[in-house]
Amino acid sequence: MQSLEEILEQAKSAIQSISDLKSLDQYRVQYLGKKGQLTEYLKTLGQLPPEERPAAGQKINAAKEAIQALIEQRDTELKKLQIESQLAAESIDVTLPGRCLEFGSIHPITQTFAEMRRIFSQFGFIFMEGPEMEDDYHNFSALNVPPLHPARAMQDTFYFADNLLLRAHTSSVQIRAMKKIAPPLRVVAMGRVYRRDFDMTHTPMFHQMECLVVDEGVTFANLKSLLLEFLREFFATDVAIRLRPSYFPFTEPSAEVDIGCLNCGGKGCRICKNTGWLEVLGCGMVHPNVLKGVGIDSERYSGFAFGVGMDRLTLLKYGISDLRALFENDLRFLRQF
Ligand code: DAH
Repeated sequence: MQSLEEILEQAKSAIQSISDLKSLDQYRVQYLGKKGQLTEYLKTLGQLPPEERPAAGQKINAAKEAIQALIEQRDTELKKLQIESQLAAESIDVTLPGRCLEFGSIHPITQTFAEMRRIFSQFGFIFMEGPEMEDDYHNFSALNVPPLHPARAMQDTFYFADNLLLRAHTSSVQIRAMKKIAPPLRVVAMGRVYRRDFDMTHTPMFHQMECLVVDEGVTFANLKSLLLEFLREFFATDVAIRLRPSYFPFTEPSAEVDIGCLNCGGKGCRICKNTGWLEVLGCGMVHPNVLKGVGIDSERYSGFAFGVGMDRLTLLKYGISDLRALFENDLRFLRQF
């Protein structure tokens, strides 16, 4: 039989090399269990002479206790290691970069709406809206375009039954404004308008801004000065403007307004088709027929108005070449604004 010392030595190195709790438990059974090595050893006591038995018994018990202590110590160590590795596996690395929220961006047209509000609020204008499904009266007749008037062909209008249509311009809101508010009057109306048109520079739905001022002594000079202020503020640069005589049924005299090309500064380029100028809006002095039609004394009051394509202004401001990009909702495009 092995000596107790040998058994103790073996147990020490064996216990130290055990790396999991299950193996440690098996080991405990192997040494200290009913059929364990030390139990077997105890059984040999009977063969010893009686006077040697107590001393031998004490030795065996001491060895048993020593092994038990070693096992317990290893058990504590292994449990600690287990907790540590569990903590390491489940821990959260607080230094990892966070996952960002996705931010949207404000659509360029919406930004132009906001710009207009900002600019024209400064000038003391109020803002009004009208319906997109309009009637013939507000869209045409009241604006001095009677039935069968050739000017109706200036816009390709979408019609419904019962004299209803999709408004072809925001000029219809002029009529609503003058019927609601007595002069003096400064109104801006912005919104969607519709025409049967679709190519690089036209979409069936687009946005217009309408401006109307009616008061005593309002002149064409007031119109020009407001246009200059507005366009310089909107494009945030000292743009030049040029007024060309034109025709609109609801204004007399009428003009079309160009700005000096923002791209080439007037030298001539592809964008301004080598003219140095970009057409941006139509304007004029409110036609006396329009004033009379809504019950305003056209001898006492005069007014001016202009209408501008907000989409086109947006394209020019940001240097976008295809109008359709504004309506395709391609995020790669929209995120740039
Ligand atoms: N309504 C015109 C259009 O859609 C634009 C316009 C021209 C508006 C002259 C006006 C104006 O108020 O005075 O083409």
